[in-house]
Amino acid sequence: MLAFYRGHGRALPWRETRAPYGIWIAEVMLQQTRVETVVPRFPVFLRRFPDIFALAAAKEASVCQAWAGLGYYGRARNLHRAAAMIVRQLDGRLPSDASAWRRLPGVGEYTAAAIASIAFGERAAAVDGNVVRVLARVFALPGRASDPGLLRAVRAKAQGLVACEHPGDINQALMDVGATLCRPATPACAACPLRSLCRARREGNAAAYPGKKARAPRRILRIAFAFVEIGSALLLERRPLDGLWAGLWELPSASGPSAKRNLGRRLGHAPGPLLARVGHDLSHRRVLASVYRAQATRGSRQKWWRDPLAAPLSALARKAIVAARGG
Ligand code: ADE
Repeated sequence: MLAFYRGHGRALPWRETRAPYGIWIAEVMLQQTRVETVVPRFPVFLRRFPDIFALAAAKEASVCQAWAGLGYYGRARNLHRAAAMIVRQLDGRLPSDASAWRRLPGVGEYTAAAIASIAFGERAAAVDGNVVRVLARVFALPGRASDPGLLRAVRAKAQGLVACEHPGDINQALMDVGATLCRPATPACAACPLRSLCRARREGNAAAYPGKKARAPRRILRIAFAFVEIGSALLLERRPLDGLWAGLWELPSASGPSAKRNLGRRLGHAPGPLLARVGHDLSHRRVLASVYRAQATRGSRQKWWRDPLAAPLSALARKAIVAARGG
């Protein structure tokens, strides 16, 4: 990993310094923000506020102004507050260990470990989603990405890796492998410095680690359809041009927990007997539709269809019509 980092690590502006001040600024900028976004803005910010005293003495508004383009401005305010605390309480000397960094506003576990390891050589592992993915694969660790057990196992492995002379380089090598090679869906194993050690690769399924997050259970959407037939013609209604099933045709409908009652309100009469029930899965919802016989009513966007299955129907409406006609 050290050879990889030195030969193939990304050349990034904050890697040209070991000055803790610059590394701190960079690590805060990199929170929830893409490397490409930070690269051009980091040197500009440092020119404007070259050291902790310049930052602490600045007005909050001008720190926020220099933060333009990075988003999440709370980070700029925390940076400014932390600078004032460091000047006032620590005579302007930046803390050297992760636990002291952790006490400053805007510095979480990951950022504290990154700064302490890169700027001070502390053996602290910086573990984020990328590192979880890399190490879950290398050690074929079971569990979903969100699983606290997996996170614990990854932390233990990462801690073992940084127990060396260059913990900051190891952390940054892991970041680079995670960001550039060990991609979620299409890992570039052939170029990876860990390929000969990687157990997931040996199993032939690197992309299967870590396990996928459990899907949130689908919410249920209830729909009541009116089946209004005169002779062989069926009354259909066109859906609005935005939203679900935009512009497609379906049976006149109402939705919600009291879908049947809502349908009665729309029709101006209580729906007749239940003809069919159908279910339909959407990506985030399960639709349960009941089809009731009903009488014609006035309505806009409605049309009689002699051959309703030839209409551009939503998949749900097609199922409903087929089921109501007895399959
Ligand atoms: N993301 C967070 N810290 C980083 C660093 N030091 N190098 C590259 N990406 C990062």
